[in-house]
Amino acid sequence: MLFRQLFDQDTGTYTYLIADTKTQAAVLVDPVVERTERDLKLINELGLTLRYCLETHIHADHITGTGKLRELTGCQSIVPEHAHATCADRFIQDGETLQIGDVQIKAIATPGHTDSHIAYLIDHERVLTGDALLIRGCGRTDFQSGDAGVLYDSVTQRLFSLPDETLVYPGHDYRGQTVSTIGEEKRWNPRFVQQLGESSAFKDRSSFIEFMNNLKLPDPKRMMEAVPANELCGRVSVEA
Ligand SMILES: [Fe+2]
Repeated sequence: MLFRQLFDQDTGTYTYLIADTKTQAAVLVDPVVERTERDLKLINELGLTLRYCLETHIHADHITGTGKLRELTGCQSIVPEHAHATCADRFIQDGETLQIGDVQIKAIATPGHTDSHIAYLIDHERVLTGDALLIRGCGRTDFQSGDAGVLYDSVTQRLFSLPDETLVYPGHDYRGQTVSTIGEEKRWNPRFVQQLGESSAFKDRSSFIEFMNNLKLPDPKRMMEAVPANELCGRVSVEA
């Protein structure tokens, strides 16, 4: 398997390129429209064929590259089930597996940051957590039908039940971190865990909800433009 982590500095967004080395079939997860040229150049240099663009969720902070990549390569766009995206070629639901040659990509429903969010487990060894679980953090829950209690359940019941050695690759990072593990986040993620001397314990659901509901973050700069565009796979409407 080929696995690459790509970064957009402007929005702190990670895009992932995953490919089967036998068939050269590739998938891009959460592409950013301004990085289309970079992504296509890499795909061409590596001799890959882009089959799918896969979204973890409808983003509020950047415009997806899916629409442009689909136009240029003929790849299919796949978004989580129930996402408001009329442009998608296909929807993916919890437990469904996407097979790319020998590479297995399994969908794990992880709502809470948005109401239709999916994490992707790649070959049982690494998980793309989108904005559900970030390194020592998590995505906000105060817009796009977010729900802090639902996010707490997704992370503590779905993601934290993966083996400790599973590598965690998030949808964003703002502090220069690139990869973690489930075991590390279960021990040190301050949103979900409190330190008790030498040991630690999970915070309870109600204190997590209270904390998340009082973050008072400003709206992402591009939200009014990004959400409607992403519902159209990245096409910016002239009326918008
Ligand atoms: Fe997001």
